Amino acid sequence: MALNVVIMAAGKGTRMKSATPKVLHRLAGRTLLQHVLDAAARLGGEGGANRTVVITGHGAEAVEASCAGSGAVFARQMPQLGTGHAVQQAVPLLSDEHTTTLILNGDVPLIRAATAAALVQACAGKKLALLTIELADATGYGRIVRRGDDVQAIVEHKDASAAQRAIREVYTGIMAAPTALLKRWVMALKNDNAQKEFYLTDIVAMAVAEGVPVVAAQAASDTEVLGVNSPVQLADLERRFQRLQAEAHMEAGVRLADPARFDQRGTLVCGSDVEIDLNCIFEGRVQIDDGAHIGANCIIRDAHVGTGAVIHPFTHIEGATVGAGSLVGPFARLRLGAELGTEVHIGNFVEVKNSTLAAGAKANHLAYLGDATVGERVNYGAGSITANYDGAHKHRTVIGNDVHVGSNCVLVAPVTLGDGATIGGGSTISKDAPAGQLTVARARQATLAGWQRPRKAAPKT
Ligand code: UD1
Ligand code: MG
Repeated sequence: MALNVVIMAAGKGTRMKSATPKVLHRLAGRTLLQHVLDAAARLGGEGGANRTVVITGHGAEAVEASCAGSGAVFARQMPQLGTGHAVQQAVPLLSDEHTTTLILNGDVPLIRAATAAALVQACAGKKLALLTIELADATGYGRIVRRGDDVQAIVEHKDASAAQRAIREVYTGIMAAPTALLKRWVMALKNDNAQKEFYLTDIVAMAVAEGVPVVAAQAASDTEVLGVNSPVQLADLERRFQRLQAEAHMEAGVRLADPARFDQRGTLVCGSDVEIDLNCIFEGRVQIDDGAHIGANCIIRDAHVGTGAVIHPFTHIEGATVGAGSLVGPFARLRLGAELGTEVHIGNFVEVKNSTLAAGAKANHLAYLGDATVGERVNYGAGSITANYDGAHKHRTVIGNDVHVGSNCVLVAPVTLGDGATIGGGSTISKDAPAGQLTVARARQATLAGWQRPRKAAPKT
């Protein structure tokens, strides 16, 4: 059953104290609004036949730009005269063919699609279905006023009597309503209340007056209905979300040294017997194969770590592939296009960019490989670098199989070292080096006979 989905995102978010519109702040790497759009996209099955309307106002241009490609349409609300006024702006865009309209909040990011789907089912195009929750401290929320079991109204905190303020069941800001009725109700709203706003929540009393059933579904956990209004609340939801992700990994067998010190800002796919030590951050799409170990304090983005590989602490990996059984770090940096074959060793303070290293190649200390093709079993010495950039263009360095590059060499690209070549330490190699031979390109060592170190003149007495 296709739906209209309205996402309210016009508010300013004053308490964020930020120039960024509230719904564009990020939680686990995605904007708050993107989380809600993603939840909405998981509703209504294949093809996204839903019509999604985002209400924008504060920072409308930036908010709308952030939704590019989501298929959502926008209704601008200027000025912002309340949640009912917000939905009024969406009315012309709501499809009458979709008999149910779901209202979500752009600043309530962790709503689960299953919960929203249950609310839509409860509405079934005929009833007004409210998502509610019981809170120990309900201050600021709209209270669910019941007579017996039947919901009578939502009364906003500022308009509530002392007796109503004692009610702990509150409206979460999420509802599903029959589309035709919702349209008629919101257009009839008045703003005669404490805040002189058009309250969407006043439609509950309208439904009751017309004999339209009002049902309340309780959210399973507060995490999915908590809103973000301040940096403190944003950080709290971030930790809750990270905890949920961490628990899902641990249930699948991943051994996290501490689920409270784990951050995933994207997709992380782990094989069996993966171990992840403290304070690692995973971004984008990361895949870690069976038995791989990730040391503490690693940052890994858009990468594939092969079976049994070990990433030692403080390693930074982005846009790279680490082959099975490879050892990387500590303090290594793999940049875009670094492709390590099996059992490659990359040691401390080694940087690799846009380079392939074949099986068994080693660069263990203080080195740079950029735009290089490195053969099998190559040993790349400490302090050696590829000089890959001439100030205008990048050039390739090709190192054959079984090459030994001594320490502190500069390989001035484009240059090729033939299979089995040995390059003497301290060489600056600007011409191709032949296979199987020793090439040295440095000043010859000389000892000057009779040379005397300068001395200070003896002080005069
Ligand atoms: C609203 C509900 C309250 C509920 C609470 C849950 C109303 C009148 N009250 O109150 O019952 O307990 O949410 O968090 O609906 N927005 C607009 N345009 C506006 C005003 C708001 O787009 O003119 C958006 C905001 O950006 C936000 C959402 O609507 O995403 C809710 O607005 P907010 O001002 O936070 O409503 P509350 O007073 O918290
Ligand atoms: Mg609010």
